[in-house]
Amino acid sequence: MKVYRHLSQLVTLQSAHTKDGRYLVPQDLSVIEDGAVVFDDDIIHWVGETSNLPQGFQGLPSENLRGHVLVPEIIDSHTHAVFGGDRASEYADRLNGLSYEDIAKRGGGILFTMSETHKLSKSELFELARKRLEKIFSYGVGTVEVKSGYGLTYEKEKELSEIIYELKIHFSPKFRIFNTYLAAHDIPKNFKNSKAYLEQVVLPLMKELSEKKIIDAVDIFHEKNYFSSDDVRKLFTAAKSLNLPCKIHADELNDNQGAEIACEFGALSADHLLKISKPGISKLAKTNTVATLLPGTAFFLGKPLAPAREMLDSGVKVALASDFNPGSCHVDNLILIASISAAALKLNQAELWAAISLNAAAALGLKNQGVIAKGMASRFSLFKAPSLAHITYNWGKNLSVSLI
Ligand code: NIG
Ligand code: FE
Repeated sequence: MKVYRHLSQLVTLQSAHTKDGRYLVPQDLSVIEDGAVVFDDDIIHWVGETSNLPQGFQGLPSENLRGHVLVPEIIDSHTHAVFGGDRASEYADRLNGLSYEDIAKRGGGILFTMSETHKLSKSELFELARKRLEKIFSYGVGTVEVKSGYGLTYEKEKELSEIIYELKIHFSPKFRIFNTYLAAHDIPKNFKNSKAYLEQVVLPLMKELSEKKIIDAVDIFHEKNYFSSDDVRKLFTAAKSLNLPCKIHADELNDNQGAEIACEFGALSADHLLKISKPGISKLAKTNTVATLLPGTAFFLGKPLAPAREMLDSGVKVALASDFNPGSCHVDNLILIASISAAALKLNQAELWAAISLNAAAALGLKNQGVIAKGMASRFSLFKAPSLAHITYNWGKNLSVSLI
């Protein structure tokens, strides 16, 4: 066991946790000034003001963390971190007037990254992803969700899911990787349609990877010219029979009632939601499906942002993530995303920090974290800052400190 004491601010999120991450007001941060926390490798034993630290814990090894802020572990719950090549030329084309959809139609986009990914070996892809993840962790992130989805053949998708699994072992136990299977990301040219690809590749491989316990969840790009509502239902029904949690890229470019389908299947999260409808918002508010907003993507593509305020005011559980990928959002810094989101989406401080810790944990089905309280997992993020506000106020700066 050890003790962190004299934390300038210990941001526990205890009230946010009691409120299930919804309808949050700034006080729900439940900040303890000059705080202390007693913990072992697994769980938290005591939380409070340093001056109230019980006698029994006084002799434990301790760190004086004056000038630091401790928050529940921050989590990047949506990334596509395993890929080959880059898409800088498409980025330039977009700035010169083409849309993401135009570029995809002429064979660019996800299929371009597919061909770049196929040029690299398993060990080359592992190495690229390992370095990217180290960068992501350097901002204070402790858990990252990583999706496959640039292999798009039976063999290469299998390889990507295995790479993510090997990365999980490589970074464990300090950092955690959540392995999401996104073979339903695009339809390779040699398939007649999405249904054929789904049946011949996505479904059988999902079964194989699930039986081998390699993957933690399944995801699908539900969008015009990609996968239909029927495809989503077919995939989610099969996933449920394998006890695999579901996630969905929903209502990003068009309203396809993706949020509604996510709720119908009890998905962990519906992500993007730029074009979500009012009925979609009301459905999310009544369920545990988390709305994961990826404002970096809308920002990078020059599209209007998701209606975050409307969702929050309706009682939707909202998370924020980076969507780090080579095409629509090439950013690996979750704190930078938080800095931009706070003002652009008009989030208060409790909504903001719950969105990258408590609610992001819910988006991955992680139950005993996202709050600093006795009995919860001892997973934290530490920053060298006199107050919580300093962390996102210093946007673009990295104030994270590696946990001791
Ligand atoms: O979340 N929309 C689908 N997937 C990614 C983009 C992938 C890409 O453009 O390479 C996303 O934005
Ligand atoms: Fe994505």
